[in-house]
Amino acid sequence: MSIERFIHDLPKCELHVHIEGTLEPELKFKLAARNGIALPFADPKAMRASYAFHDLPSFLALYYGGMEVLLKEPDFYDLTMAYLARAHAQNVRYAEIFFDPQAHTARGVSFDTVIRGLRRAQTDAENRLGVHSQLILCFLRDWSAEFAMATLLESLPYKQWIVGVGLDSDEKNNPPAKFAKVFARAREEGYLLTMHCDVNQEDSVAHIWDCVNLIGVDRIDHGCNALEDAVLCRVLAERKLCLTVCPISNAFVTDGPQTDVVGKMMDLGMRVTINSDDPAYFGGYIEENLALVQSKLGLGREGLATLSRNAFEAAWLPRAVKDGYLAMVDDCLARA
Ligand code: ADE
Ligand code: ZN
Repeated sequence: MSIERFIHDLPKCELHVHIEGTLEPELKFKLAARNGIALPFADPKAMRASYAFHDLPSFLALYYGGMEVLLKEPDFYDLTMAYLARAHAQNVRYAEIFFDPQAHTARGVSFDTVIRGLRRAQTDAENRLGVHSQLILCFLRDWSAEFAMATLLESLPYKQWIVGVGLDSDEKNNPPAKFAKVFARAREEGYLLTMHCDVNQEDSVAHIWDCVNLIGVDRIDHGCNALEDAVLCRVLAERKLCLTVCPISNAFVTDGPQTDVVGKMMDLGMRVTINSDDPAYFGGYIEENLALVQSKLGLGREGLATLSRNAFEAAWLPRAVKDGYLAMVDDCLARA
């Protein structure tokens, strides 16, 4: 079996994907037509060709602009169903999906509309395709802590549909400490916790330390700069704190895909995983991200299986369910 085939067949777990970042231009056009919105491009190809970003803020501007076609429950359903169908086609068995409610409620779309569309697609995808997924509510860190707290309170009636909370958007001048109270309350409410520590931000290493010591996160999104601090790496490895690295995304918004970082983290026994982040914008889903890491690091089947096992181990699932997925990885390896 070729290594490409093995990457495809490997049972996968995606832990870092923004559902709004899976909105492909083709679907944008469909939703815009349905909602009577005019787009300033002739067709999806022209729209895709116009995408230009070189750092996190320039990417985020495009990402938020793209959401304007998402207005009604079926829009959120179609978005989520499209992602889960693509994930299924790449042998993703389980996904933890970020959503950004504030990016919608701030435009007058209700929390209820957003989450009902997402949830209905998750249920259908589970029944029809066998892909299981859970939701992680992300707060936008460039808005106030008060808005985040209000959003947390708004989420509580839907708590059984949400496994955890995260923090995304522009990290500059928006450190983890700004949201300490919100995350403490989220913890009290039973949510698991993660936070973005985007690559090469001001005070990246200090922010990762704050995630660990001040917030007490269960996971870190990106977190590549941890490698600059040997003690931090040891703490992350000892505590088995997962880092959700997104190589193709990194290649667009930083100085490279950080695949060397992935290799070093693996060598240090850190729980690193490979993910797609915003695949409709960066042009690669999980399989393409794994293929990039494999080719840059020359990974064999064992190395690839380790990345997949790391993700299932870090998944916010009961032990017995994780063990079922881990057995599927072992099976795939045995058959290869
Ligand atoms: N929102 C969507 N993608 C993001 C990323 N990579 N970093 C921060 N916020 C995001
Ligand atoms: Zn992200």
